[in-house]
Amino acid sequence: MDSFELNKIAGAVLGSLLFIMGLGVISDALFAAPHMAKPGYALPGAEEHHGGGAAAAPEVVVPLPTLLAKADAKKGENLVKACAACHSLDASGAAKATGPSLYGVIDRAVGSTGFAYSDNMKAKGGKWSYEQINAFIANPKGVVAGTKMSYAGEKDAAKRADIIAYLRSLSSNPAPLPTP
Ligand code: HEC
Repeated sequence: MDSFELNKIAGAVLGSLLFIMGLGVISDALFAAPHMAKPGYALPGAEEHHGGGAAAAPEVVVPLPTLLAKADAKKGENLVKACAACHSLDASGAAKATGPSLYGVIDRAVGSTGFAYSDNMKAKGGKWSYEQINAFIANPKGVVAGTKMSYAGEKDAAKRADIIAYLRSLSSNPAPLPTP
Protein backbone atom coordinates (compact mmCIF):
# COMPACT_ATOMS: atom_id res chain seq x y z
CA MET A 1 0.00 0.00 0.00
CA ASP A 2 1.49 3.35 -0.90
CA SER A 3 0.87 6.50 1.05
CA PHE A 4 -1.63 7.76 -1.51
CA GLU A 5 -3.85 4.76 -0.85
CA LEU A 6 -3.46 5.21 2.92
CA ASN A 7 -4.60 8.80 2.55
CA LYS A 8 -7.67 7.65 0.65
CA ILE A 9 -8.57 5.20 3.42
CA ALA A 10 -8.01 7.79 6.15
CA GLY A 11 -10.13 10.23 4.19
CA ALA A 12 -12.93 7.74 3.84
CA VAL A 13 -12.85 6.98 7.56
CA LEU A 14 -12.87 10.68 8.48
CA GLY A 15 -15.63 11.33 6.01
CA SER A 16 -17.94 8.75 7.47
CA LEU A 17 -17.18 9.94 11.02
CA LEU A 18 -18.18 13.47 10.03
CA PHE A 19 -21.32 12.10 8.38
CA ILE A 20 -22.30 10.22 11.56
CA MET A 21 -21.67 13.29 13.75
CA GLY A 22 -23.78 15.34 11.38
CA LEU A 23 -26.64 12.86 11.69
CA GLY A 24 -26.40 13.12 15.47
CA VAL A 25 -26.68 16.91 15.40
CA ILE A 26 -29.62 16.82 13.02
CA SER A 27 -31.51 14.14 14.96
CA ASP A 28 -30.88 16.01 18.23
CA ALA A 29 -32.43 19.07 16.67
CA LEU A 30 -35.38 17.08 15.32
CA PHE A 31 -36.11 15.04 18.41
CA ALA A 32 -35.10 17.41 21.20
CA ALA A 33 -37.01 16.46 24.36
CA PRO A 34 -39.79 18.98 24.97
CA HIS A 35 -39.22 20.99 28.12
CA MET A 36 -41.92 20.80 30.74
CA ALA A 37 -43.45 24.19 31.30
CA LYS A 38 -43.98 23.40 34.95
CA PRO A 39 -42.37 20.78 37.13
CA GLY A 40 -44.68 17.88 37.90
CA TYR A 41 -46.81 18.00 41.00
CA ALA A 42 -44.66 17.32 44.02
CA LEU A 43 -46.11 14.84 46.43
CA PRO A 44 -45.73 15.74 50.06
CA GLY A 45 -42.28 14.60 51.05
CA ALA A 46 -42.12 11.42 53.01
CA GLU A 47 -40.53 11.62 56.36
CA GLU A 48 -36.92 12.61 55.97
CA HIS A 49 -35.35 11.64 59.21
CA HIS A 50 -36.22 8.87 61.55
CA GLY A 51 -36.45 8.92 65.27
CA GLY A 52 -36.07 12.25 67.00
CA GLY A 53 -32.81 14.02 66.37
CA ALA A 54 -32.54 17.75 66.77
CA ALA A 55 -35.07 18.77 64.14
CA ALA A 56 -34.62 22.49 64.69
CA ALA A 57 -37.81 24.51 64.96
CA PRO A 58 -38.07 27.04 62.13
CA GLU A 59 -36.66 30.42 62.97
CA VAL A 60 -39.40 32.86 63.86
CA VAL A 61 -38.66 36.13 62.15
CA VAL A 62 -42.09 37.68 61.66
CA PRO A 63 -44.76 36.93 64.30
CA LEU A 64 -47.62 34.72 63.11
CA PRO A 65 -50.38 37.35 63.55
CA THR A 66 -48.46 39.70 61.25
CA LEU A 67 -48.00 36.94 58.68
CA LEU A 68 -51.67 35.97 58.91
CA ALA A 69 -52.74 39.58 58.41
CA LYS A 70 -51.11 39.58 54.98
CA ALA A 71 -51.61 35.90 54.16
CA ASP A 72 -53.26 34.91 50.90
CA ALA A 73 -55.96 32.25 51.29
CA LYS A 74 -56.02 31.78 47.50
CA LYS A 75 -52.37 30.71 47.54
CA GLY A 76 -53.19 28.64 50.60
CA GLU A 77 -55.89 26.80 48.69
CA ASN A 78 -53.23 25.65 46.24
CA LEU A 79 -50.78 24.65 48.97
CA VAL A 80 -53.44 22.73 50.86
CA LYS A 81 -53.68 20.34 47.91
CA ALA A 82 -50.66 18.62 49.47
CA CYS A 83 -52.66 18.15 52.68
CA ALA A 84 -55.73 16.97 50.77
CA ALA A 85 -53.75 13.91 49.72
CA CYS A 86 -54.53 12.65 53.23
CA HIS A 87 -57.17 15.01 54.64
CA SER A 88 -60.74 15.71 53.59
CA LEU A 89 -61.72 19.37 53.56
CA ASP A 90 -65.44 19.32 52.88
CA ALA A 91 -68.12 20.39 55.29
CA SER A 92 -69.27 16.81 55.92
CA GLY A 93 -66.35 16.51 58.34
CA ALA A 94 -65.90 12.84 57.41
CA ALA A 95 -62.37 11.53 57.91
CA LYS A 96 -60.45 9.76 55.16
CA ALA A 97 -58.67 6.51 56.00
CA THR A 98 -55.45 8.54 55.71
CA GLY A 99 -56.29 11.49 57.95
CA PRO A 100 -58.92 13.37 59.96
CA SER A 101 -61.08 16.06 58.35
CA LEU A 102 -59.60 19.56 58.37
CA TYR A 103 -62.98 21.28 58.04
CA GLY A 104 -63.33 23.65 60.97
CA VAL A 105 -60.01 22.58 62.45
CA ILE A 106 -59.05 26.05 63.76
CA ASP A 107 -59.80 26.13 67.49
CA ARG A 108 -61.07 22.54 67.37
CA ALA A 109 -60.05 20.24 70.22
CA VAL A 110 -56.96 18.21 69.28
CA GLY A 111 -57.69 14.64 68.22
CA SER A 112 -61.44 15.07 68.60
CA THR A 113 -62.90 13.69 65.36
CA GLY A 114 -63.74 10.13 64.39
CA PHE A 115 -60.24 9.23 63.28
CA ALA A 116 -57.89 6.57 64.64
CA TYR A 117 -55.36 9.04 66.05
CA SER A 118 -51.93 8.07 67.35
CA ASP A 119 -51.64 7.67 71.11
CA ASN A 120 -49.61 10.85 71.47
CA MET A 121 -52.15 12.85 69.47
CA LYS A 122 -54.94 11.51 71.68
CA ALA A 123 -52.96 12.45 74.76
CA LYS A 124 -51.91 15.91 73.59
CA GLY A 125 -54.97 17.85 74.73
CA GLY A 126 -55.68 21.51 74.04
CA LYS A 127 -57.02 22.89 70.79
CA TRP A 128 -55.68 23.80 67.38
CA SER A 129 -55.06 27.49 67.92
CA TYR A 130 -53.37 29.39 65.10
CA GLU A 131 -50.03 29.08 66.89
CA GLN A 132 -50.46 25.36 67.53
CA ILE A 133 -51.34 24.55 63.92
CA ASN A 134 -48.47 26.72 62.72
CA ALA A 135 -45.99 24.83 64.89
CA PHE A 136 -47.46 21.45 63.96
CA ILE A 137 -47.37 21.89 60.19
CA ALA A 138 -43.86 23.35 60.41
CA ASN A 139 -42.60 20.19 62.08
CA PRO A 140 -45.26 17.55 62.83
CA LYS A 141 -42.92 15.07 64.56
CA GLY A 142 -41.37 17.84 66.61
CA VAL A 143 -44.75 18.82 68.09
CA VAL A 144 -46.37 15.37 68.41
CA ALA A 145 -43.71 12.68 68.68
CA GLY A 146 -44.71 9.53 66.85
CA THR A 147 -47.58 11.25 65.04
CA LYS A 148 -49.22 9.26 62.27
CA MET A 149 -48.97 12.33 60.03
CA SER A 150 -46.09 11.45 57.75
CA TYR A 151 -45.61 14.91 56.33
CA ALA A 152 -42.13 16.45 56.43
CA GLY A 153 -43.41 19.92 57.31
CA GLU A 154 -43.64 23.27 55.53
CA LYS A 155 -40.55 25.26 56.48
CA ASP A 156 -41.61 28.52 54.84
CA ALA A 157 -43.47 30.65 57.41
CA ALA A 158 -45.27 32.75 54.78
CA LYS A 159 -46.54 29.62 53.04
CA ARG A 160 -47.74 28.24 56.38
CA ALA A 161 -49.65 31.47 56.94
CA ASP A 162 -51.28 31.09 53.50
CA ILE A 163 -52.20 27.49 54.38
CA ILE A 164 -53.67 28.54 57.73
CA ALA A 165 -55.58 31.42 56.13
CA TYR A 166 -57.21 28.91 53.82
CA LEU A 167 -57.90 26.39 56.61
CA ARG A 168 -59.58 29.22 58.52
CA SER A 169 -62.01 29.69 55.63
CA LEU A 170 -63.13 26.05 55.95
CA SER A 171 -65.75 26.90 58.51
CA SER A 172 -69.29 28.21 58.66
CA ASN A 173 -68.03 30.66 61.28
CA PRO A 174 -64.28 31.35 60.82
CA ALA A 175 -62.38 32.09 64.02
CA PRO A 176 -61.26 35.73 64.34
CA LEU A 177 -57.69 36.37 63.21
CA PRO A 178 -55.21 37.17 65.99
CA THR A 179 -54.40 40.87 66.15
CA PRO A 180 -50.85 41.66 65.06
C1 HEC B 1 -49.32 11.81 54.49
C2 HEC B 1 -50.64 12.15 54.96
C3 HEC B 1 -50.80 13.55 55.53
C4 HEC B 1 -50.47 14.77 54.97
C5 HEC B 1 -49.80 15.02 53.63
C6 HEC B 1 -50.90 15.77 55.90
N1 HEC B 1 -51.47 15.19 56.99
FE1 HEC B 1 -52.23 16.15 58.61
N2 HEC B 1 -52.60 14.40 59.52
C7 HEC B 1 -52.39 13.15 58.97
C8 HEC B 1 -52.70 12.13 59.95
C9 HEC B 1 -52.59 10.62 59.73
C10 HEC B 1 -53.09 12.82 61.12
C11 HEC B 1 -53.41 12.20 62.48
C12 HEC B 1 -52.09 12.24 63.24
C13 HEC B 1 -52.04 11.45 64.53
O1 HEC B 1 -53.05 10.87 64.94
O2 HEC B 1 -50.94 11.43 65.12
C14 HEC B 1 -53.04 14.23 60.82
C15 HEC B 1 -53.39 15.23 61.72
C16 HEC B 1 -53.46 16.57 61.39
C17 HEC B 1 -53.99 17.60 62.26
C18 HEC B 1 -54.63 17.36 63.62
C19 HEC B 1 -56.12 17.12 63.37
C20 HEC B 1 -56.95 16.77 64.58
O3 HEC B 1 -58.11 16.36 64.37
O4 HEC B 1 -56.48 16.86 65.72
C21 HEC B 1 -53.87 18.78 61.59
C22 HEC B 1 -54.27 20.16 62.08
C23 HEC B 1 -53.27 18.49 60.32
N3 HEC B 1 -53.04 17.14 60.23
C24 HEC B 1 -52.99 19.42 59.35
C25 HEC B 1 -52.36 19.14 58.14
C26 HEC B 1 -52.05 20.14 57.15
C27 HEC B 1 -52.42 21.61 57.26
C28 HEC B 1 -51.40 19.51 56.14
C29 HEC B 1 -50.80 20.13 54.88
C30 HEC B 1 -49.89 21.22 55.09
C31 HEC B 1 -51.33 18.10 56.48
N4 HEC B 1 -51.93 17.92 57.69
C32 HEC B 1 -50.76 17.12 55.68
C33 HEC B 1 -51.95 12.89 57.69
C34 HEC B 1 -51.43 13.84 56.81
